[in-house]
This record gives sequence, structure tokens and C-alpha cells, in this order.
Amino acid sequence: MSFVNTIVRSTFNKSTLLSTRISQRSFHGSSKVLSSKLFVHRDTPENNASIPFEFTPENLNRAQEIIKRYPPQYKKAAVIPLLDLGQRQLGWTSLPVMNAVAKLVEIPPMRVYEVATFYTMFNREPVGKYFLQLCTTTPCQLCGSTKILETIQNHLNIKVDETTPDGLFTLVEVECAGACVNAPVLAINDDYYEDLTPETTKEILDSLKSGKIPKPGPQSGRHTCEPPGGLTTLTSQPPGPGFGVRSDL
Ligand code: FES
Repeated sequence: MSFVNTIVRSTFNKSTLLSTRISQRSFHGSSKVLSSKLFVHRDTPENNASIPFEFTPENLNRAQEIIKRYPPQYKKAAVIPLLDLGQRQLGWTSLPVMNAVAKLVEIPPMRVYEVATFYTMFNREPVGKYFLQLCTTTPCQLCGSTKILETIQNHLNIKVDETTPDGLFTLVEVECAGACVNAPVLAINDDYYEDLTPETTKEILDSLKSGKIPKPGPQSGRHTCEPPGGLTTLTSQPPGPGFGVRSDL
């Protein structure tokens, strides 16, 4: 009996202790980060189902080529490349673009909306002719992306997520663009401009304004992502076949 009592007491003590600890535990939560994008559709004069959209004959051929890459029963797998095709044709991914894609791959439009709203690369609002995606993640930030952001905003007189009144530039901030070794990085449409300084950023924007496409890649003059101070390894001719092997072998 005393053994049972001991167990009961010890269990009671442990559970009391546990519940005391639990009741004292405070809850922590990370701060809310709200997206600047609206993930539901709202009809607007420039984006509603009554606006006609057709793929051009050339893009329709491309679309058929893309669909043929998948087995007939899985042609819905072509949704992402087809949305990309529609975005390239119109400049952004409107509701009629999504509906046209759904018709092509014969699935309910909702299935396409689910994909288009998940991937932030699909712009569901009109963007400027030059879509500026500035990376402001840690490596780029450490290499000066905050200054680049200020430069773009001041030079174009727009804030993040805004478009210039002439419709030429839209600026957004993005997470790592995957080119950290050449930070800071700005993607303009399909091209990357790297190793930016405030001066080179202004030059790039001015060239685009005047209708010229500046050369993409590192703006520092270095070749791709080689060390900025010149090569430090693999500086001599590598030894040929048989190097270090006994001559009688
Ligand atoms: S952090 Fe900017 S490219 Fe990776």
C-alpha cells in the first residue's frame, strides 16, 4: 500500500510540476510579415473574364509543342510553361490568360488559378516594360543592396511595388536571386545585372530609358564570378596524363 502511495504521490508531484511549468510557459511568435500581393482575384476594368485573350498563332504552335512533351492524360502538367507563354505575350498574367490556359489543357480554370496564385513569378497585375527585381536578401544587403534600392527609388521616383507613370519600370524586392557571388544583383526582365554600385545602376536605368539594352552580367568588369582580385588558384598549366606515375608502369 505504501508502495502504491509512493507511486501516486510521485506521479502527482510530477504532473503538478509539469502543469505548473506549462502554465508558466510563455508563448512566442515571429512577427507578422504580410505580403504586398493580393492572392484573391478582384475584377477590375483591365482584368476581368469578359476581356478577350487569344494566343497568337505563333504562340499557339509553341503551346501545342509544349503540350506534346507530356503524355496525353497529363497535359495539365503543361500549365506552368503555358502560363509563362501567356505572360510573355500579354506582359502579365490576367484572368483571361489563365482561362485560355485552362481551355488549352482541358482542366477547370480553378486548377490554373491555384498555380498562378502560388508562384510569385506570375504577375497578376500589369507591370512596366522593364520589370526590376532587386534582391535584398542578406548577401546582397551586405554588399550594398540597400543603397541600390535607394538609388533606383530616387532615380525613378517610385517606391517598391510601383510603376513609373510612363509604364517603363516596375520595381519589386525579391529574395535571393541565386547569384550571391555577384551581389548586389538586379534582375531586369530575363537578364541579371550584377556587382552593382549606385553609379552603374543609374547608368543601366538611363540606357533603358533611352531605348538601349545594357550588357547584362557583372558591371565591375570581372569575368562571370571569378575572384574580383584575379585568380588565386589554378593559375598554372595543369600537369598532363601520367604525371607522378612511375616511368616503368
Ligand atoms: S542574396 Fe542576392 S542573389 Fe543571393
